[in-house]
Amino acid sequence: MSNQDRRIAFLQEMGLGPVWSQRTAVLQTLEPEAAAPEEVTEFIEDSVAVATPLRVAEQSASAWGDDDVAITPAAVPAAPTALVQPATNIGSMNWDQLKAVVSSCTECGLCKGRTQTVFGVGDQKAKWLFVGEGPGRNEDFQGEPFVGPAGKLLDNMFVAMGLKRGENTYIANIVKCRPTDENKRDRAPVAAESDACLPYLQRQIELINPTVIVALGKTAALSLLKLDPATPVARLRGTVHRYADIPVVVTYHPAYLLRTLKDKSKAWADLCLAMQTYADKANG
Ligand code: URA
Repeated sequence: MSNQDRRIAFLQEMGLGPVWSQRTAVLQTLEPEAAAPEEVTEFIEDSVAVATPLRVAEQSASAWGDDDVAITPAAVPAAPTALVQPATNIGSMNWDQLKAVVSSCTECGLCKGRTQTVFGVGDQKAKWLFVGEGPGRNEDFQGEPFVGPAGKLLDNMFVAMGLKRGENTYIANIVKCRPTDENKRDRAPVAAESDACLPYLQRQIELINPTVIVALGKTAALSLLKLDPATPVARLRGTVHRYADIPVVVTYHPAYLLRTLKDKSKAWADLCLAMQTYADKANG
């Protein structure tokens, strides 16, 4: 059995359906906004999101998908008391200091509703950084970004790109605490919450120094790139933006893709643009 067959068998066993397939030819020829070639589109249309039943009617208006799987909170590490430094030093903190400060942060109201902060996960020297908007219910319980249904799709997107969670990839969010609405449902962070939390992500980016950043969804893109909230999504996709000289490619949030299957081919085009950008930077 080839590695590819093993990968497909593994994902099918996990209930993740067929794998998105990266094709070299696509990388070489893709125009930023071009539709994916037919074979790739077929893969995309058949891939995990199709296999994942969604309760669309119960979803909130944000990028989120909630699931009702009973989960137990992961052991929440005690918030460090002694080593916490004032938030003004964020720009010179190392990973341990940054984690400690984030875990006890009270810079915005989101701290009141959290089970725990969700700092980020992955390789601290990753060349690929993926940025979402903020933790949801699953992430708040488990302390790790993208562990719910949207996370499964993100993992599948990694596979399609030849990547893997934790290996040369880092996943972080704009906000580190779960935003909820008055009905305790996940929602997107508001600007004040994103602004309060952004220095943590900025320090994470400095420490990682990734080759390419992929912004997952409009909220992540607008906060990271400090763009006018009225910027249409069409202006965000298909262009390589810059964050402190690091290329940023914007794509749809995986939770959005789970309920808008028709846009998965566009997401594939975005990922191809990201891979092309990565290759260009690595080669020259
Ligand atoms: N969506 C996000 O934007 N971030 C997560 O961590 C999970 C879902």
